[in-house]
Amino acid sequence: MGMPQILESTPRIRPTPAPATNSIGAFLFDVDGVLADTARLHEAAWRRLAIREGLSLDTDTARSLRGLSRSDSLRRVLGQRRVTQHRFNELMEQKNCDYLRQVEQLTPTDVLPGSSELLEELPGFGIRVAAVSASCNARPVLDRLGLLDRFAAVVDGTDDVSTTGHRFLSASAVLRVEPSRCVVVEDSTTGAAAARQFGMKCLGLGDATALCMATMVFESLRGVDARSLLRWLTRTPH
Ligand code: BG6
Ligand code: MG
Repeated sequence: MGMPQILESTPRIRPTPAPATNSIGAFLFDVDGVLADTARLHEAAWRRLAIREGLSLDTDTARSLRGLSRSDSLRRVLGQRRVTQHRFNELMEQKNCDYLRQVEQLTPTDVLPGSSELLEELPGFGIRVAAVSASCNARPVLDRLGLLDRFAAVVDGTDDVSTTGHRFLSASAVLRVEPSRCVVVEDSTTGAAAARQFGMKCLGLGDATALCMATMVFESLRGVDARSLLRWLTRTPH
């Protein structure tokens, strides 16, 4: 029997696979409403402020505060009510003190189901993780939850970055993972929209209608394992 014919198209040396530039390299976790149910604590503090001030705060407006800065939230709570800048600052301070009293009660048992497990598993897949939040209180919250040392970077409201989208970009730069390889985990419409605007995938947590901009939406991270999640996200186009 003669030598097997080597077809022109048969590569003799297996080509080196191209670098996986589309692979996922980082997860950027929002804090409030993703790692703990602190979105509910923010909402409750705004409700108490509205009651003290004799303002009506309907459920839809209260829900729409997720992901908004403290000042934008207060503007929405005040609605048509006009106040001086001094009073505006006082009200923001009051809401913050009230909210921080609730934060003091947080313990590691308040970490939302699935988040801890995912944070533990992801580095094993070569994924870097950052916490990204509009809140100036993100670090104390992470500290109370016992999660602070899980993150390679924390970008929050105390940083000199003005918008949610720019905070995502800043985290991607700190982690040295390009935006197209970052996945943002978000519970707010604002956050999901900002992630997509900057070319990142978004894993939305909560209401699918409010999170229609997200790449995929889960009710929560409960039972979601890193391997399956990465497979789904990698297969889903931008
Ligand atoms: C976001 C919350 O994470 O942080 C918003 O979703 C909140 O509800 C914003 O207003 C700012 O938080 P803080 O703690 O600085 O008032
Ligand atoms: Mg949030």
